[in-house]
Amino acid sequence: MLNHKIVFMVVCSLVTMVAFFAWPEKTQGDSQFKNVQVLTDLSPDQLEDMMAMFTESLGVGKCTFCHVKDKASDENEHKVIARKYLKMTRELRETYFKDVEEKDKVTCYTCHRGEVKPSNSIEQAEERAKKKAEEKQ
Ligand code: HEC
Ligand code: HEC
Repeated sequence: MLNHKIVFMVVCSLVTMVAFFAWPEKTQGDSQFKNVQVLTDLSPDQLEDMMAMFTESLGVGKCTFCHVKDKASDENEHKVIARKYLKMTRELRETYFKDVEEKDKVTCYTCHRGEVKPSNSIEQAEERAKKKAEEKQ
């Protein structure tokens, strides 16, 4: 009987602690941004890293590929498309890859490999690499 009481009390205080520490961080993260619909669980630093990952994975080099001056705006259609792929990537992780231990197993880079539109065969990748090299000459 006593044991049950202790366990119950420990669980209660743990729940309170988690709520206490988790809550301020989340509201802080949310209030910084105006139009974040998918990445709602990220801190500002994590969001920044994620944006850098997008930019590198797609090989676009600049934030302006997706963003107009106001980063909260959805005026640039690439941003709207990117959000769709973001949802897909999260879904892939949470459904098909949920048993894979490594959390970042599937990222934008998994498909994009530095291209805005990923090559879908070795031939296409080689063809594009050849073109790129020729353009540079
Ligand atoms: C491939 C497209 C893409 C690129 C490139 C990109 N972003 Fe984003 N960004 C998005 C999407 C999509 C969202 C919205 C995510 C959501 O709804 O969860 C977003 C949201 C943001 C937000 C939140 C704005 C708000 O208040 O709602 C900031 C800030 C931001 N991006 C900064 C950057 C910076 C800085 C870079 C360059 C390093 C960058 N982004 C590059 C697609 C992109
Ligand atoms: C499962 C593979 C896969 C993953 C993962 C993936 N993409 Fe894509 N993405 C594609 C393919 C394939 C296309 C090209 C579709 C087409 O030809 O129209 C594409 C196209 C895009 C485009 C449109 C490019 C353009 O020219 O407008 C954007 C933006 C984009 N992806 C963003 C992302 C972002 C951001 C992520 C990570 C959050 C991501 N994608 C993850 C496969 C993927």
